[in-house]
Amino acid sequence: MSKKISRRRMLQMLGVTAGAAALPVSSFANDENGNPILLPENSYPALDKPVTAIVCGAGNRGNVYGNFALSYPDKLDIVGVAEPIAIRNERYTKKHAIREENRFVTWEDVFKKPKFADAVIISTPDNLHYGPCMKALEMGYDVLLEKPISPSEKECRNILALAKKTGRIVAVCHVLRYAPYFVKLRELMQSGAIGEVVSMQHMEPIEHIHMSHSYVRGNWHNSKQTTPIILAKSCHDLDIMRWMIGKPCKSISAFGDLKWFTKKNAPDGSTERCTDGCRVEGECPYSALEIYYRKRQRNYVFDLPEDKDKQAEYVLQQLKTTNYGRCVYRMDNDQPDHYITNILFDDQVTASFSMEAFTSYEGRRTRVMGSHGDIVGDMTAFTITNFKSGKKEEWKETTDGHGGGDWRLVENWVQAVAQRNPALLTSTIDQSIESHIMGFMAEESRKQKKVMDIKM
Ligand SMILES: NC(=O)c1ccc[n+]([C@@H]2O[C@H](COP(=O)([O-])OP(=O)(O)OC[C@H]3O[C@@H](n4cnc5c(N)ncnc54)[C@H](O)[C@@H]3O)[C@@H](O)[C@H]2O)c1
Repeated sequence: MSKKISRRRMLQMLGVTAGAAALPVSSFANDENGNPILLPENSYPALDKPVTAIVCGAGNRGNVYGNFALSYPDKLDIVGVAEPIAIRNERYTKKHAIREENRFVTWEDVFKKPKFADAVIISTPDNLHYGPCMKALEMGYDVLLEKPISPSEKECRNILALAKKTGRIVAVCHVLRYAPYFVKLRELMQSGAIGEVVSMQHMEPIEHIHMSHSYVRGNWHNSKQTTPIILAKSCHDLDIMRWMIGKPCKSISAFGDLKWFTKKNAPDGSTERCTDGCRVEGECPYSALEIYYRKRQRNYVFDLPEDKDKQAEYVLQQLKTTNYGRCVYRMDNDQPDHYITNILFDDQVTASFSMEAFTSYEGRRTRVMGSHGDIVGDMTAFTITNFKSGKKEEWKETTDGHGGGDWRLVENWVQAVAQRNPALLTSTIDQSIESHIMGFMAEESRKQKKVMDIKM
């Protein structure tokens, strides 16, 4: 049976064909938190055939990008997967009707086979981007590469050099560059709508439970095993500031620390795990029982059984065995929970950036100060004020996963690959590397307590 037929059948089974009442075409358009993803406008020409891609890492991001293929099978076809967690591998294979011979346990195995797709999507953990990316480029694949490019500056530069040498298309998943909110903000800043841009304040409120989930208990809790938080979380912010200001960064300084999520702050009566009879569990805002079991938030990390009746018991079991059930004050975490940087760009433009764990809200806050006006925004809307006329205008957007950037990024990348035109991308490896260098230098500044110059 040909791949096309079995794939179509699979989509039919999933109810994704046009007119399917139970599951409309956009049923897969949700990010890992269940937020709807804005579908990209169909502004590009139809493709003769879909771009074929192999996904390395079928976790959250691998699914967010892979789901684009289910909603737009004429644009992207996932033809291979490498994923060591058996249930994820199994589910992904089924979802995309991947042939048995194109299923792999680990990324290395993909490259033991002669090239069998147009491109590779790299959504493995941070410390496993470099290997598959270098191999993919060597073998002539185009690449969609999750951020951070790599936790090492040297590896970032090696990837850039090989991408240039091979001329392959490499898009870095700086999804905010594709979010309509930031696209509009940048357009206004660069068009002179507020005169000359003088300075910017940008803040990323991580939100306290998101912080505890990802950077205290979760995948990124240890900066040495993954990436320092300024890159893991905030390379998006450094990147978006650099991109909106449109001028190179000259120097950077940073302060920040892990203040709260430490053993010395563990309350009396707390236990190793929230499930161990902790006496303060009922009043703790970070209770794993409350977050994952009672409210069933962020359960996407658990690979839940399909049988809904078994899910609650399964989550409870996970809290007894994985880091997600551990007390936030007794983890082996080291990521700062507050981090500030001051940045000097070319032409005397300054910017300050704060990454804050302790907020009740998410959504980046940005203020831009210009010679003739200013802009104040929170990622759902911004207000632009003209100093002379006093006139205020508001711009509004429906918020969704990464402000609508996720699938717009995939759409642009697919078009760039299909048309062999990297100019369609706004997050090429060249453009993304600078903000990574800013992140590495911020971390050096924080540790050495000195201002660092940025040398590209
Ligand atoms: N662009 C964004 O906004 C954004 C958001 C979240 C995460 N990320 C980045 O995306 C990447 C993936 O994050 P995630 O949240 O999907 O994590 P995840 O843990 O859900 O997924 C990673 C997957 O890679 C698999 N994997 C591990 N070793 C592998 C190997 N040797 N070969 C193939 N697969 C392997 C894991 O089993 C896992 O399923 C990370 O680098 C992360 O920093 C980016």
